[in-house]
Amino acid sequence: MTYAAITGWGKCLPPAILTNQDLSAILDTSDEWIVSRTGIRERRISHVSLTDLAEVAARRALAAAGMEGGALDLVVFGTCSHDDQVPNTASGLQARLGAVGAAAYDINTACTSFLYGLSTATALIRTGVVRNALVVGAEVISPFMDWSNRDVAVLFGDGAAAVVLQASEREEGLLAEKLGCYGDAREILRVDGMGCTYANRGVPYGITRWQFEGQEIFRRAVAGMSSACEEALARCGLTAAAIDLLVPHQANLRIIDAVARRAHVPAERVYVNIERYGNMSAATVAVALCEALEEGRVRPGALLLLPGFGGGLTWCAHLVRWGERVQPLGVSDAALPPCERTALQLIRDCRDRKGTAPGRDPRDPWERRSAIV
Ligand code: ACO
Repeated sequence: MTYAAITGWGKCLPPAILTNQDLSAILDTSDEWIVSRTGIRERRISHVSLTDLAEVAARRALAAAGMEGGALDLVVFGTCSHDDQVPNTASGLQARLGAVGAAAYDINTACTSFLYGLSTATALIRTGVVRNALVVGAEVISPFMDWSNRDVAVLFGDGAAAVVLQASEREEGLLAEKLGCYGDAREILRVDGMGCTYANRGVPYGITRWQFEGQEIFRRAVAGMSSACEEALARCGLTAAAIDLLVPHQANLRIIDAVARRAHVPAERVYVNIERYGNMSAATVAVALCEALEEGRVRPGALLLLPGFGGGLTWCAHLVRWGERVQPLGVSDAALPPCERTALQLIRDCRDRKGTAPGRDPRDPWERRSAIV
């Protein structure tokens, strides 16, 4: 029997930090509201493209696996904030990594894209189609954000992470998963105009309009992730007692707490980093997994449960047996170019490019803030 072991992992977070205090200077919100309702304190804003972020994460993951890009048979790119729709983003990453023999495709199930990508790459390894795969979860949401809408602007951030999967005869990697979708509720999370950074080619951004029913998403997220956890465990004849670490999608601390409670996983066995990054959509679980490893929270042979949900509304839970190695084999020197701008300046750039910035009205909080950033 062939399994798909996770042998490499790497993340890349852009350096510019947007704090709750920054947001309260431009929106009618407060640190107290954001922390108490979501658990988020700050998030990252990217000064580079999605592919730039993903490339650094991918190079770090390959180094951790002791592998060159040329050894890859498959690149799966999970995202909903593509640099381009055609050609796809995965092909750009494939070319940059020199993965000339690799198939490359994007996967978009919004926040669950990394986990759905893990499923498809694992299936292709387990059926012998490929042996070495890279699965990326990456998002640069900031250019598509409606920075005047406090309902959504406080929730999201940019980031990237990747894992390397390799065929193995040992029982490790993804053991079981449950995938699902509440298609009947797809309209409660809609972002019109999302998915192409046209500005790369000198074409201005369109208006991005967010339709977002937070409370209903919350309710469906808890229901979907909880039932997926139960089914994924049942497929392996296990209960929550066997779980060493729950690494859930990080959209709201209250959602994480509710899912952990329903899954009967105590808080000390739940990984949380939402306070630092907010919801990075497809990058969230992948970054959390990398940080859990860096912090020594994943021991050799650990059993991990990774529940997620996203637009669609897609939901899932993945049961992963970690291998013996919890340290990277190598370290990449890949790094982002330095960022000269503050996070507030970067989001002001995004807003200006979208053509939605108001005129130079001194009463506009953006303009007041602009004078000091
Ligand atoms: N600052 C201050 N007040 C705010 C803010 C803000 N940023 N946003 C909303 N409010 C106000 C509302 O206007 C409302 O005011 P009112 O009572 O005067 O009408 C009040 O706060 C309460 O609003 P609720 O929507 O009831 O707040 P709730 O406790 O439900 O929290 C939240 C909202 C954080 C959005 C929550 O519902 C949530 O996290 N939902 C899940 C969203 C999510 O995770 N989506 C991820 C999927 S994304 C993807 O897949 C790409």
